[in-house]
Amino acid sequence: MGGNVVDFAAVVLAAGEGTRMKSEVPKVLHKICGVPMLGHVISQAKKAGAKRVIVVVGRGAEEVKRAFAEQEVEFVLQAEQKGTGHALMQAEDAVKSEDTVLVLYGDMPLITAETLKSLFEFHARNQAAATVMTARVKDPSGYGRVIKEGNRVLAIREEKDASPEERAIDEINSGIYCFNREKVFNALEQVNNDNVQGEYYLTDVVEILNRQGEKVLAFEAQDPDEVQGVNDRNQLAQAQAIMQKRIIRSLMARGVTFLNPDTCVVDEGVEIGRDTVIYPGVILEGKTRIGEGCTIVGYTRIIDSVVGNRVEITMSHIRESVVEDGVKIGPFVNLRPGTHLMAGVKVGDFVEIKNSKVGENSKVPHLSYVGDADIGRNVNIGAGVIFVNYDGFKKHRTVVEDGAFIGCNSNLVAPVRIGQGSYVAAGSTVTKDVEEGALAIARSRQENKPGWVKKRKEREGGGSSGKQA
Ligand code: UD1
Ligand code: CA
Repeated sequence: MGGNVVDFAAVVLAAGEGTRMKSEVPKVLHKICGVPMLGHVISQAKKAGAKRVIVVVGRGAEEVKRAFAEQEVEFVLQAEQKGTGHALMQAEDAVKSEDTVLVLYGDMPLITAETLKSLFEFHARNQAAATVMTARVKDPSGYGRVIKEGNRVLAIREEKDASPEERAIDEINSGIYCFNREKVFNALEQVNNDNVQGEYYLTDVVEILNRQGEKVLAFEAQDPDEVQGVNDRNQLAQAQAIMQKRIIRSLMARGVTFLNPDTCVVDEGVEIGRDTVIYPGVILEGKTRIGEGCTIVGYTRIIDSVVGNRVEITMSHIRESVVEDGVKIGPFVNLRPGTHLMAGVKVGDFVEIKNSKVGENSKVPHLSYVGDADIGRNVNIGAGVIFVNYDGFKKHRTVVEDGAFIGCNSNLVAPVRIGQGSYVAAGSTVTKDVEEGALAIARSRQENKPGWVKKRKEREGGGSSGKQA
C-alpha cells in the first residue's frame, strides 16, 4: 500500500532547454553560491521531509545525472521537452505508490524547507486535490498568473496566453505544488498543447481539476524572494545576491564579523568560527572551513581549504590546503593544492607553495617557490630560495630537516636532503645532500681584480665608467 498523509515524494522538473540562459551548461547546473540550482532544490525538498526525490531530466541529462551521482536521488528521462505537464507525466511510474506528490521546478533555488513544509501541511490539512504555492510580487512579468475565487484557484494563465486583465494580476504561480497523486495524473491525461508555446502545461491541470469538481487551493508564500525563478543571467545574479545575503547573515548571527558583507563571496556550506573578521572583497569557496579569531584581509580567495584558529591572511590565494593555528600568510601568497602549513608558520610576500609540508614555526618570508618539499620545524628559508622540483620529465621531493637555514637566493635541486641544523650559504645551487650541522657553499668563489677599472679606461681611450652605452 501507498504512504499516508504524513509523507510525500518530491518530483523536480529539470529537463527544460533553458534557452534564455544562452549557455552550453544545462540551466539547473548553473551555480548559486557554489551549489548548482538543482542541488539547492533537492536538499530543501529532502529537509522538508520528502522521503524520495525524483528528478526529471532531459536537456544535458547525462551531465545532470553525473553532477548528482553521489546523492540519494532518482532520475527519469523526458526525452523530448514538450512542457512541464509532459515532464511530470514521465514520473508517473516512479511515484505509483505515493499518495501525495510535491512538484517543484529545478530553477527556483531560493525556496526553503520551512516553506515547503508549511505548503505540505496546509495541503494535507485541507485535503485538497491540488495546492498551488503562489506569491504576490511587484513585477509579475514572465510568470503564470493565478486566477482565484476566494482561496480557490480556478486557473493559471501563462503570460503569453493571458488577456490584458489577466496580466494585471499580481499573484503569480511559483511553480511549486502539492498534488493528490492519483488526481493529478488523471488530469494530466487531458492536458493538450493548444497554447501559444505549443506545450503541455502542468498549470492546465488546475482548470481540469476544477471542472471535475475538485478542490484546488492557493498557499501564498510569505517571502516572494523564495519563489523567484531563474531563467536568465540577470535572474541568476539576483538569486545569487539573495542567497549570498542569507549565508552571510547567518554567519554574522553566529559571531563572525564582516566589515563590508556586500563585497564578499561566501559559498553555501563554508564554515567560519567566532570572532573571525572578514575584510571587504574576501572570497571563500567550496568546502572551506575557517577557525575562530582569524583575520582575513581582502582580496583573499580561499577554495576547499581548512584554516585553523587565530590565522592572519592578507591578499592571498589558497586552494586545497591546510593551514594550522597561528599562521601568518601574505600579502600576495599563492598556496596551491597539497600545501600544509603547521602551527606558527609564517609565509610572506610573493611566495608560492605547492604539495609541501612546512613544519611548526618555520618561515618562508619572501619571494620563494616551494614545490614538493617536506620542511621541518624552525627552518628559515631566505629570500628568493627556489625549490627546483622539476627536471623536465619528473617531479622530485626535497627534504629540509628541523632548524636548517637556507641562505638567500639558493636553489635546492631535488631530489636532495638538507640535514638537521645545517646551513646553506646564500646563492648556492645545492645538488648534493647536506649532512647534519654542516655548511654547504655551492657557488663559485669571488675574485676581485684590483685597479681593473682604471686599466680598462686607459685601454678604451678615456671613456667614463658611468657613461651609458
Ligand atoms: C513556469 C510556469 C509558470 C510559473 C513559473 C515559475 C508552466 C507552464 N509555467 O514557467 O506558471 O510562474 O514556471 O517560475 O509550468 N521543464 C521540463 N520539461 C519541459 C519544460 C520545462 O522539465 O518540457 C522544467 C524546466 O527545466 C524548469 C521548469 O520545468 O526547471 C519550468 O520550466 P520553464 O520553461 O522555466 O517555465 P517558466 O516559463 O518559467
Ligand atoms: Ca522558469
